[in-house]
Amino acid sequence: MIINLTYYHVANDVPEINPDVAVVIDVLRATTTISWALKNGADSIQVFADLNLLKTSAMKWPADKRLMLGERGGKKIDGFDLGNSPLSVKKETVLGKRLFMSTTNGTKSLKEVQNAKHLFAMGLPNRKAVADKIISLNTENLLILGSGWEGSYSLEDSLAAGALASYLKTNFNSEVNIANDELQAALALWYFWENDILQCLKTATHGKRLTSLGDYEDDFKCCSELDCLDIVPFQAERGVIRAS
Ligand code: MLT
Repeated sequence: MIINLTYYHVANDVPEINPDVAVVIDVLRATTTISWALKNGADSIQVFADLNLLKTSAMKWPADKRLMLGERGGKKIDGFDLGNSPLSVKKETVLGKRLFMSTTNGTKSLKEVQNAKHLFAMGLPNRKAVADKIISLNTENLLILGSGWEGSYSLEDSLAAGALASYLKTNFNSEVNIANDELQAALALWYFWENDILQCLKTATHGKRLTSLGDYEDDFKCCSELDCLDIVPFQAERGVIRAS
């Protein structure tokens, strides 16, 4: 398996290929929230880059079966039902509902690679579940897309990319080719921080951004918990994520 990592979600930086398998990572917090929402019984999550399109699409859905969820700059969007905390997508809130979701970076990344044959969303809690799914596909090419922050590098997404690559190296039954230096660096980052994930997340610039906005301690704990979710969020139809 040949694995590449790219950090950026802006169009010019994502390779113009339609990979067999793409994994989008936004540890803080979009892909963690998606994973928990599906674990707690959300029917599906439709992701949007554009807020007007999101609102128009949501209004076409039955009112008792929809929630609008999202943030800009880490803060909940005015008029939306929920922000982007994985703690807010509780079972009693999301069960059976479609979540119409837009975030600063994570949902844009998902849109960026929506032509991949298989597209997954991963946080640290479902790293093993997603990795095992990739192994079962016996894929030759994997693109990992770290969502970053508005086009720039992100420590926590790189950490999770390294965590995924590390698991694949150990558990895939044939050769794993770490194809670019970005992923080599992500692996080194993982080996450095793997026993103190929480501290890595708080050290990251987006971790500091969240800390400056309020008390996000429980979000940090939730987002840093490794391999505790058996959910594999996959793109079931263009822009729509469901659990497998
Ligand atoms: C994003 O998509 O940029 C993040 O999920 C931001 C956040 O922490 O809410």
